Formats: sequence, structure tokens, C-alpha cells
Amino acid sequence: MIMEKRRDGDSMRIIEVKNYDQACSVAADIISAHLIMKKNSVLGLATGSTPLGVYQNLVQKYRMGILDFSECKTVNLDEYIGLEPDNEHSYAYYMWNNFFKHINISKQNAHIPRGFFSSSEKPCEDFDNRLFALGRPDIQLLGLGHNGHIGFNEPDVKFSRSTHIVRLSERTKQANARFFNKADEMPSEAITMGILDIMKAVHILLLVSDKSKMGILKKALEGDIDPQVPASILQVHQNVTVVVNTDT
Ligand code: F6R
Repeated sequence: MIMEKRRDGDSMRIIEVKNYDQACSVAADIISAHLIMKKNSVLGLATGSTPLGVYQNLVQKYRMGILDFSECKTVNLDEYIGLEPDNEHSYAYYMWNNFFKHINISKQNAHIPRGFFSSSEKPCEDFDNRLFALGRPDIQLLGLGHNGHIGFNEPDVKFSRSTHIVRLSERTKQANARFFNKADEMPSEAITMGILDIMKAVHILLLVSDKSKMGILKKALEGDIDPQVPASILQVHQNVTVVVNTDT
């Protein structure tokens, strides 16, 4: 049991599953339920290795005619600084290749923070304006960093509020270097939604499927609410589902 303190009736539900495929299938079913109930849902999405199987499940459901993305809007958590959207390491590229190009979403309905901009541009303000215009996401999918980060909100002295640029921690750089050909190609900064932005979602879906994250997950769900463990803020959200693969 990952959670010892929580009981039925809590605002946080923990779904423990036995493998990665099951975790992705459960998470995709939850997202699908939102979209089926509300065709114009705002779906908050994440990148990284964990949600890949969720996107595969959603694409499959779309191909089977179960899902229709034509009226929904999506919003992504973060992007690396300095990478253009067509850079194969950017999160924009990841989203198009792993998800958007396989479904019937209109390009203008998919919102991803811009990591490539000129010095006269204001990408954080622009993204905050877009978030404001979109309204509260109906559901926000989250992965968990090894240091407890959500989005790219790294351990800090306070919980961040709005979109901002962060210096990635050594732990995050170490974990994500695997996606780059050479470790020094990995950007050292990212643009991310703030913690308060994330907390605005009506429903938060945290997906964890990695043995080495069980310690930080436990700390986030049961420890003190502490900006040094950014995901710990989820304890005060009204509607959180955690899907955890306990057999990794
Ligand atoms: C990515 C994101 C990050 C990842 C986290 C886990 O959009 O928001 O918080 O979810 O770094 O990444 P993986 O799944 O690659 O272990």
C-alpha cells in the first residue's frame, strides 16, 4: 500500500495497478470519461516518458470512434527554453508526434508554452493570458519528477503562482538527459505553468509508474505540504486521482 493515512471520502483517490499498461489504460479511461461527458473539455496535458502510453490509448479510442477531439482544447504544462517547436527534443514536437497528429484536434486548440522567443517577447505573460482565456482545465494530467516536481516547478522556497522560467535542477537534468543525444544538448531552463495554475484544474490526474519515484510519491502524498516537494500541494486539492503502478 502506497498510502497508509488516506481513507475513503478523502478528496484524493489512489488507484494502485500492477503494470505500466494498466496504469495508462486507467488514466486514459479517466480522461476519456471527461471528454465524453463534455465535448469541449479543456484537457491539461503532460510530456515525459510516463504519459506516452496514455496518449497511445487515447489515439486508439479515437480510431475506434469512441472519442472526438474536434471541440476540445488542450494545454501543456511546460517546454524547454531555446528549442523551436520543430526540434525533435521539444515538447511541442513530442505532443504533435505522439498525440495531436493522430487525432482530430485543430492546431489552434492545442496550447503549449513557447520556449523559443526573441528578447522583446513575453512568453510567460502570453501563456498566462492564454490560460486565462481557456478557463479552468477540466482535467490536468501530471507526471512526477524524481525530486517531486510537477510541470517543471522544481523544489523551491515557495509555491509558484503563474507561468515562469525556471532553471532546471541537476536531478531533473540528470533524469531527462536520456532523451537527448548528448547530455550537454539538454537545455538548462524551461518555461512552466505555475503551481497555482496547475491547482486550478477541476480534476488532477497524477500518473506514476517508476519504482525509483515511490519514496518521493509517498512524501508528496503523506508528508508535510512543502514547496521543497512541489507535488505535496496536491494534498489540498479537492479532486485528485493518483494512478500508481506499484509493481515497477
Ligand atoms: C513534463 C512534466 C514533468 C514530468 C516529470 C516526469 O511535461 O511536466 O513534470 O512529468 O519530469 O517525467 P517522466 O515521465 O519522463 O519520468
